[in-house]
Amino acid sequence: MTADTDLIEMYKPIARRHDTITEKLVRKARHAALIKLSISKNSNILDLGCGSGDMMYELMSRYKKHKLCFTGVDLSPHMIRKAKKKLKEAKKNGHHISLVCRDCIEHLETCGEYEYDLVSAAFLLSYVDSSELFPLVNTALKKGGKFVILTPSDNHLKNLEKVFFKFVMLYPSLSNWGSIPKIILNKTFSRTLPLEKTLKLLHEARFSKVKSRRKPIMSHVRFDDPVSFLRWMYKSVWAVRYSNIIREDTKETFFNEAAKYLEKNNVKVVNEPVRWGKPFKFTMPIYNIVAEK
Ligand SMILES: C[S@@+](CC[C@H](N)C(=O)[O-])C[C@H]1O[C@@H](n2cnc3c(N)ncnc32)[C@H](O)[C@@H]1O
Repeated sequence: MTADTDLIEMYKPIARRHDTITEKLVRKARHAALIKLSISKNSNILDLGCGSGDMMYELMSRYKKHKLCFTGVDLSPHMIRKAKKKLKEAKKNGHHISLVCRDCIEHLETCGEYEYDLVSAAFLLSYVDSSELFPLVNTALKKGGKFVILTPSDNHLKNLEKVFFKFVMLYPSLSNWGSIPKIILNKTFSRTLPLEKTLKLLHEARFSKVKSRRKPIMSHVRFDDPVSFLRWMYKSVWAVRYSNIIREDTKETFFNEAAKYLEKNNVKVVNEPVRWGKPFKFTMPIYNIVAEK
């Protein structure tokens, strides 16, 4: 299997499940990003890695009378199917919607120059090579067109990943070691870059203005305890990459031992100490970047 087919497989259960926690985490950031945009009538909009279509759905609801023309691109057929269902109603407002099941780089390579007024990439940069993506987006945008990015802060994610792998190594009996070489071979580790590096790549891709708030949008959700947090993290954020690492029959022990390990070693998850059995608040710092051609 290639990394792409892995990704498609792994998004299957995610597409099926409506994950209310993930939605709660990203909704605030999506609002904050879209509220600042002003979109003209008949705009041509491309949503890269559109998932189940939330970004487009929100734009359609905000600009009911604008007769917008949307193209949503996603690698996962399951996500595209979900988006089709979600966006069916919106067509009645006169918006035009086209959903394409394809790799976003491939799509950009075949679309024309100066085609779009707006391109969005919400929570996509962890999966693609930004240095390849950004110049292609620039070409596809009209002059003055905008590229809107939402992306989690890489430090916090990488720190969590580091702790996760350390724990896996310390407790080999709880893990499925066979899946690790595949992860390494397929390079399915997060490709999220530090903010400064992302901004640099946008400048290099010849965007004329690049704006980002230095401070990320802090979205948070509360869990009854750290074990519930780890269970959610594993089946949502990490599911795409690491879903086979934990053995099915030792899953609960893994989460319990991991929560105790975090507490014992005083590991903070985005500044929040872990206390076994106590309520736990998880914060996800999300950057919103807008680049103009
Ligand atoms: C975390 S989800 C975000 C979905 C949506 N943008 C949102 O904000 O809810 C990432 C999406 O990117 C898609 N994806 C990952 N790599 C891709 C690629 N190379 N081309 C197109 N879509 C991709 C996944 O299938 C998934 O639906």
